[in-house]
Amino acid sequence: MVIQVFVSDNIYYHCLLNQYTILMITGQTKLTGLIGDPVEHTLSPYMHNAGFKYCNLDYIYVPFQVKKENLKKAIEGAQSFSFEGLNVTIPHKIDVIKYLDVLNNNAELIGAVNTIKFANEIKGYNTDGLGAVRAIEELKSIKNKKIIILGAGGASRAISFQSILNGASKIIIANRTYDKALKLTENLINKLDADVKAVTLGNELKNELTDGDILINTTPIGMYPNINQKPLVTSSMLHEDMIVNDIIYNPMETVHLKEARKAGAKTISGIKMLIYQGIESFKIWTGMEPPVEVFEKALMDYI
Ligand code: ATR
Repeated sequence: MVIQVFVSDNIYYHCLLNQYTILMITGQTKLTGLIGDPVEHTLSPYMHNAGFKYCNLDYIYVPFQVKKENLKKAIEGAQSFSFEGLNVTIPHKIDVIKYLDVLNNNAELIGAVNTIKFANEIKGYNTDGLGAVRAIEELKSIKNKKIIILGAGGASRAISFQSILNGASKIIIANRTYDKALKLTENLINKLDADVKAVTLGNELKNELTDGDILINTTPIGMYPNINQKPLVTSSMLHEDMIVNDIIYNPMETVHLKEARKAGAKTISGIKMLIYQGIESFKIWTGMEPPVEVFEKALMDYI
């Protein structure tokens, strides 16, 4: 018997349009998914289910809303249901660590997990930084580059650690709350002995940008629905040899990317980071790497 599983209204829509996201569940189907709260707007099922289909893998990816107080039970439940793997999103990326057996190097350094693999032991990984770095390295190697990161939250943390691991020569953390930037900076110096500096968003940032190679926005400025919010940097502060990356994917061209385009800099939309962090998770669970275009098309069809 063929069972058609419509993971969400949107995937149903996807099936009608493309006739390829018809998922068949059997006794052998391997389980993956996402835990977070909320999860309604996640785009990950589109990418992963399209990837499984393309690679001919009998896997399924389903998002689960998990309240904070149920996190331990969710991990134990996933293990007892023999899940292959999970993605982890807000607000569980840090708290989940205490329910895992072991962390890989990135997750250990970053102090947060966005991917879990269930095997003999439950292992945590972090692919957020890897996704951003891979998106940038499509255009230019990060090695020996000066990178300026706007924001000092979880995404900034993942990207700054990964940038140093990939050979960045200098990292500037520019944040509205200076103390938070300083705390992250101290952490990066203590753990990786890196050349890192914390700055505020005013003139200090402007000065650092003059010889910056790569600028990455990790703040929510410009994110839907606030698409016309005032950017933290304007085109006159940027230059054409720069690469500017925003981790926001809605809209695809944010206020920061518009300023970068005006300055003649190369721009990278947050959609690339989303795709590459997903591909890294997919590899951890399956050992296979789907073509980037498969993830990209699945997202674009939906968007
Ligand atoms: P995430 O964990 O997803 O990176 P976060 O922890 O909420 O998100 O971090 C968001 C970052 O964007 C923070 O560094 C925040 O600055 P503060 O540390 O001063 O709070 C920054 N941010 C958010 N809104 C901002 C705004 N309107 N202007 C400047 N910075 C902002």
